[in-house]
Amino acid sequence: MTSANISIDGKAADYPVHAGSVGPEVIDIRKLYANTGRFTYDPGFTSTASCESKITYIDGDQGVLLHRGYPIEQLAEKSSFLEVAYLLMHGDLPSQQQHDEFKYLITRHTMVHEQLANFYRGFRRDAHPMAIMCGVVGALSAFYHDSTDIHDAKQREIACHRLIAKMPTIAAMAYKYSVGQPFLYPDNSLSYTGNFLRMTFGVPAEPYIINPVVEDALDKIFILHADHEQNASTSTVRLAGSSGANPFACIAAGIACLWGPAHGGANEAALEMLREIGRPERIPEFVARAKNKDDPFRLMGFGHRVYKNYDPRAKVLGEAATKVLDTLGISDPVLDTARELERVALSDDYFIEKKLYPNVDFYSGIILSAIGFPTSMFTALFALARTTGWIAQWTEMMEDKEQKIGRPRQLYTGSPRRDYVPIEQR
Ligand code: ACO
Repeated sequence: MTSANISIDGKAADYPVHAGSVGPEVIDIRKLYANTGRFTYDPGFTSTASCESKITYIDGDQGVLLHRGYPIEQLAEKSSFLEVAYLLMHGDLPSQQQHDEFKYLITRHTMVHEQLANFYRGFRRDAHPMAIMCGVVGALSAFYHDSTDIHDAKQREIACHRLIAKMPTIAAMAYKYSVGQPFLYPDNSLSYTGNFLRMTFGVPAEPYIINPVVEDALDKIFILHADHEQNASTSTVRLAGSSGANPFACIAAGIACLWGPAHGGANEAALEMLREIGRPERIPEFVARAKNKDDPFRLMGFGHRVYKNYDPRAKVLGEAATKVLDTLGISDPVLDTARELERVALSDDYFIEKKLYPNVDFYSGIILSAIGFPTSMFTALFALARTTGWIAQWTEMMEDKEQKIGRPRQLYTGSPRRDYVPIEQR
């Protein structure tokens, strides 16, 4: 095993260097504080591996994303969302029998407790779907007590199945509530994605006919959002879970983190930005704003902490956007604006030097909008899909013998010790 020698104040010590199957090695600095009395300082964890994982691998410089070793492009083209969920949870692609059993299990958990509908009715009609999702998913732990013992592997598995199965029902109910239509119960004869489309856009008064192009495009979007290594929301789920919180509470924490515009909320912000730009002639004005240090404006859907190359998911979605709009016969000037913005930004020195490329959020909103989703639902759909990654990562953490409560340290720059002064003497 190689080691790294770190010397401070003339005192040197060796630290083990661990190699993964691919990707950068890591320096194991767990003994650093004991040896030196110093912490490492890494706000935003830009150089810190927080855990060992076998689920997802990203090479940000090459623009590579692998789930359990399989390239995302192959999964998006050949697989289905439920199969990818199985892959993330179990480590390998399922046999036909395993696939059928998994589908049966997920399908049998799609309904939610009838009383959960009362939670929705407590929200304002104009509540953001992500606000509803945070509340309702967290509340699941109050309904499914038989799957909250995190030390029981069977209960953990049932909780995971419940979360994958119920997220479409919960997200569709959030949409139905916002438009004042009745909730629709799941139809278990449909595919995972088809069932979600029907619960969202169907009404009890007439049959809902699923458009296979829309079903396929949405399934692809779900696959592309299923997992993404130790991103902010996944790290939040792991951190929440590290204290022993139940999985429903942990996923609610992940949803809260995903909501932010620097993370999952960027898909909503990207489409709003493209609509605000409106037409290709206005692009230079917005590109100039994005480059101006004194203007907080950023090109939404551009840039990524890890990808310093084209986000492979954006490539798949860019192509899917054209196909979906063509097939649905929709001509949306926003797609032309997006394509031109991408062209202008990718030939601009500012974006080239900083290695800023379109990310997954740049094109997804255009497709979701063409399907008929309001922008406020975009991040809820992201949460629905990412739940599979969150629970796979949470399960992996629960089975990890090295797992400890997550507890970072800090560089304290506040006041040193001082004595309390009574209010009349201040
Ligand atoms: N537009 C303009 N400039 C940008 C952008 C952008 N979208 N993104 C980064 N930059 C610039 C920054 O101003 C900074 O410049 P500086 O070095 O001169 O100060 C430099 O590029 C590095 O940016 P950081 O914010 O330090 O990079 P970080 O890795 O912390 O941020 C992030 C990554 C948050 C994704 C950022 O690129 C961003 O805000 N993008 C827009 C929001 C977005 O699309 N988020 C979705 C991410 S994908 C996902 O979560 C699913």
